Amino acid sequence: MTDKELYGLAKAAMKNSYSPYSNCKVGAALLCKNGKAFTGTNIENAAFGPTICAERVAIFKAVSEGEKEFSKIAVVGGKGGIINGIFAPCGVCRQVLREFCKDDFEILLGETADSYKTVTLKDLLPLSFSPENVK
Ligand code: THU
Repeated sequence: MTDKELYGLAKAAMKNSYSPYSNCKVGAALLCKNGKAFTGTNIENAAFGPTICAERVAIFKAVSEGEKEFSKIAVVGGKGGIINGIFAPCGVCRQVLREFCKDDFEILLGETADSYKTVTLKDLLPLSFSPENVK
């Protein structure tokens, strides 16, 4: 799958966002090393705390289906579903990514409906705490 196709999956996932409180619609598409892809969207909750981000939904879907080897993730979001600048993964999602991915893992950050910039997990989470630290 091309990066552009992965970005397309992330954009499509925004449509299912359950975000009645923030109206921020976020989509993520996670590519496994074996070529499979898992999508996720943010799911909010009236109690706020149980809200889960699009990225973690995609990661947890994949892990629960037996996949733990990932090559990249595309993330896109916008108020009311309008893509107008980067919606970068929150700190919790960065740490969850680090559980399964190394520093060179690629993250495609949607900027507009047609463009994204590519960064690495190390860019977003330098000096990370990782599974190696607790071995
Ligand atoms: N959100 C994500 O889905 N991913 C992130 O990494 C940042 C925040 C969602 C959670 C919440 O539903 C909304 O965006 C506003 O915080």
